Order: sequence, then C-alpha cells, then structure tokens
Amino acid sequence: MQEIIDKIYYVGVNDRNKELFEGLWPLPDGVSYNSYLINDDKVCLIDTVEVDFFMPFIRNIHEVIGDRQIDYLVINHMEPDHSGSIALIKKYYPDIKIIGNKKTFGMMEGFYGVNDNCVEVKNGDVLELGGHVLKFVLTPMVHWPETMVTLDTSCNVLFSGDAFGCFGALNGGLIDSQINCDTFWLEMVRYYSNIVGKYGTPVQNALKKLAGVPIDYICSTHGPVWHEHIGKVVGMYDSMSRYETAPGLVVCYGTMYGNTEHAAEVIARAASQAGLKDIVMYNVSKTHHSYIIRDVFRYRGLIVGAPTYNTGLYHEMDVLLSELAGRDIKNHCLGWFGSHGWASRAVAKIQEWNDTRLHFEPVGTPVDIRQSLDSETFAMCEALGKAMAEKLLAE
Ligand code: FEO
Repeated sequence: MQEIIDKIYYVGVNDRNKELFEGLWPLPDGVSYNSYLINDDKVCLIDTVEVDFFMPFIRNIHEVIGDRQIDYLVINHMEPDHSGSIALIKKYYPDIKIIGNKKTFGMMEGFYGVNDNCVEVKNGDVLELGGHVLKFVLTPMVHWPETMVTLDTSCNVLFSGDAFGCFGALNGGLIDSQINCDTFWLEMVRYYSNIVGKYGTPVQNALKKLAGVPIDYICSTHGPVWHEHIGKVVGMYDSMSRYETAPGLVVCYGTMYGNTEHAAEVIARAASQAGLKDIVMYNVSKTHHSYIIRDVFRYRGLIVGAPTYNTGLYHEMDVLLSELAGRDIKNHCLGWFGSHGWASRAVAKIQEWNDTRLHFEPVGTPVDIRQSLDSETFAMCEALGKAMAEKLLAE
C-alpha cells in the first residue's frame, strides 16, 4: 500500500460497482472509500470503509502491518460508507479502542450494536502515537452532527472526513501530484452540492476553526489526497459554502412533445444574444438532477419551465425544485415558464415553490404557454432570456 508520508498509509478501497451513491447520486466513474493507517509505536486506523468492501480493506491493512494489532480506530464520521466496517474490525482487533466524540457513540450503538472500548474526545484533545500526535477538531454538521476532523500535528496532515472529498474512483494514483485532476474538479462540485450543500454555515465554521493551521496533506474520505492543490480545494469549499456563483445561467426544462423545449431554446438564445456566454441547458427527464444541482451551485441564474401534468407540475421538475429547496441555496436569480394543454397550473406551481421554499430573486416575467408558442409568448420568452442575461451581466 502507498505510504503518503512518514508511516501514514492509504488502506482505502474503490467502488466501481454501485450505480447510485446513497441510492440517489449517479457514480459514472465510481467512488473511493478512503481509510488511512498510521503505523507508529501505536497503530491507528482513521475511519473504515463500506462493509461490502471489508475483505479488500482488511487485506490492505495486513499488507501494511502484518500481524501487528491496531490500537486505535478514529471515527471522524459515522455515515456507513465510512463506519460500515467497525463491527468487523472489532472482530479482527477485539482490543481496539474506538475514538469519537459525544455524538459518535450513540450512532455507533444504533447502527452496529458496538458500545465498548470507546474513548470520547472533545474539541482540541490530543492523542500521542509515538512520533505522530493527533489533535481532534469537532466540526458538527459537515454534514452530520458527529462530524469531526483529525489533525496530525507532527506532519501537518489533515484527515478531513467527507470535507474536500469528491466522486470518482482512484485509478492507480492516490496523491493529486500523481494524477491528472481535471476530471475531479466538477465531481468535487457535484459531491459538495449533492451531499454537503445544505450545510454552508457549518462548513464556514469548520474552515474558520482550521484557518491558519499548517496543512501539507488533506486526506479526505473520498477521492484524491490533496497536496499540490490544497489552496484550490480549500478555496473551492470556501466559495461553495458561501454560495458564491459565476454569472452564468442554467436553463432547465421538462417537455412532453417539444413545445416547452421550444420555449427553453428561445429563452437561451435570447440570453446568448444579450451577451451571456456561460449557459447550460438540461432536459430534466434526461439529465439526473445530481448534475443540475451541481450547475445551480456554479451559476447564479436559473430558468426553469415545465408542462402542467395532472393539474400540477410535471413530476421531474417537481423533484428538481424539491431537491434545490432542500439545500437552502442562497444568492440566486430565478425565471420561469410553463405550458399547458387546457388548464394552466405549472407556472403557478413553480411560483409557489419559489415563494414558499426557494426564495430566489425573481427575474423577468413568467411565461405561460397554451399548447405551443405563438407570437406573443415567443416574444415573452425572448424578453425573459434577455432580462436574465442583463441582470447577470450587470452584476
Ligand atoms: Fe462519505 Fe457522509 O459519508
């Protein structure tokens, strides 16, 4: 197994089998469950892996320490993609001491029935392993209540849990300096927006706690170990957790027979003609909302449109708006449009989402299309696209 620095080894695994992370989020390039082993006077394991991968996990551990026992298991995060192997690790290492905080152990008993040999730590507590010294920093609600990070102060390594993680399996290389990271940047935004995105304030609080701390390696639980790009990934997390965006536009639509899509095309073209360069368009029935949420986190403008269906809003658009509303996204502008065959509901339903849950800044005049675009609604779509572009460019 690869040594990252000074007796700290990677012992994680790759999952290229799962279709949907958490049963929700597509994994076209897989995902890694990262775990780390410090082979010092005392042996310390940092987090585990999803239980389906226990056999490669224990093989990795044996490759590093052979028959040595593990003294400590640090649990930075109890979500089962990282805690899933706790019970089996205890079978292999019955004397192992499990380190967590006040919120950790109730979850551990609930998920796995494990409640013995627990060592509770508080913010700032320290554990000496020999040459290595670990300091625990509590970072609640990034993105579960028990989340914490562990700092190895002897070599400036941050074991950050999910923070700074991203989708995508590790294909041989582990440390960012060993790999072309181009594919990981958008997957980091997708991971953040999908998984952590609701918790911008706790992320900001965690970043403040770590400000000024020297860090040479960030070892998260998903994706590459960050070394060369630490400034970039910390900057990305800072920006995303402030809900900062670029002046671009997501145009997202549902369509049954092409009429709502026609309106979306007119809107996007008008936005482009008004000078806006960053425009992305999605058919909400074709593109998983995971990717649309990602781009809503990237761009300030959003225009959504869908047909009326069963006297309500076209279901796939309802799902997207529900997912966006659940993330308490700030600093966005919204335009909207809808279509209907004989009874108009979609436009009112989108407005209801915005008034009650989204609270984005409305831009332009909503367009309600009966059956298909006519000269009046065509012009209104052009006006909507232009108004959004001018708003975004003016800022
Ligand atoms: Fe990767 Fe929140 O678990």
